[in-house]
Amino acid sequence: MLKDMDQAFVAGQAREVMLNLYRVGPRKVFVVDEEVPYPDGRLIVSRTDLNGVITHANRSFVEMSGYREEELIGAPHSILRHPDMPKAAFKDLWDTIQRGEIWQGYVKNLRKDGRYYWVKATVIPNVRSGRIVGYTSVRRKPDRRKVEECIALYAKMRAEESNL
Ligand SMILES: Cc1cc2nc3c(=O)[nH]c(=O)nc-3n(C[C@H](O)[C@H](O)[C@H](O)COP(=O)(O)O)c2cc1C
Repeated sequence: MLKDMDQAFVAGQAREVMLNLYRVGPRKVFVVDEEVPYPDGRLIVSRTDLNGVITHANRSFVEMSGYREEELIGAPHSILRHPDMPKAAFKDLWDTIQRGEIWQGYVKNLRKDGRYYWVKATVIPNVRSGRIVGYTSVRRKPDRRKVEECIALYAKMRAEESNL
């Protein structure tokens, strides 16, 4: 369902990490420790079905992720999952939106070239006739101080998760 990352697109020195994705299984990714700054004045928008499979991606999403639109549509949103993100953050996201509530949080995303970008995400359930039919995520430029806090917090959460 989701191919390993293609090393041919990776920008520079990378470490190899094996992720184990929910519903997807193992995926080999290449991680480059270089941030791509969130562009000013842009909104990154995507929509998914109930399972988190991407059904729509706007131009900013395509540009920042580095993937072509055809590669994103039909792929699970975990195509952007960065190994530095704690599992608990995504559990909180899914628990919240499946209750029909809005989730907000900071996310470190992995690009096709192995570099990363931070976003402030707002994920909204799309409700039709009282039923959740999918989800929309809108990302904005993150606050730098909050990013610094999240770097420390997520590292601590990940250390705790690896001790489970
Ligand atoms: C609308 C929507 C947007 C999402 N956006 C992202 C995202 O930008 N980056 C990301 O890593 N996960 C995102 N997720 C969460 C993924 O579906 C997934 O839970 C996460 O990547 C962790 O992978 P896992 O659940 O397979 O462990 C999003 C989910 C939804 C419903």
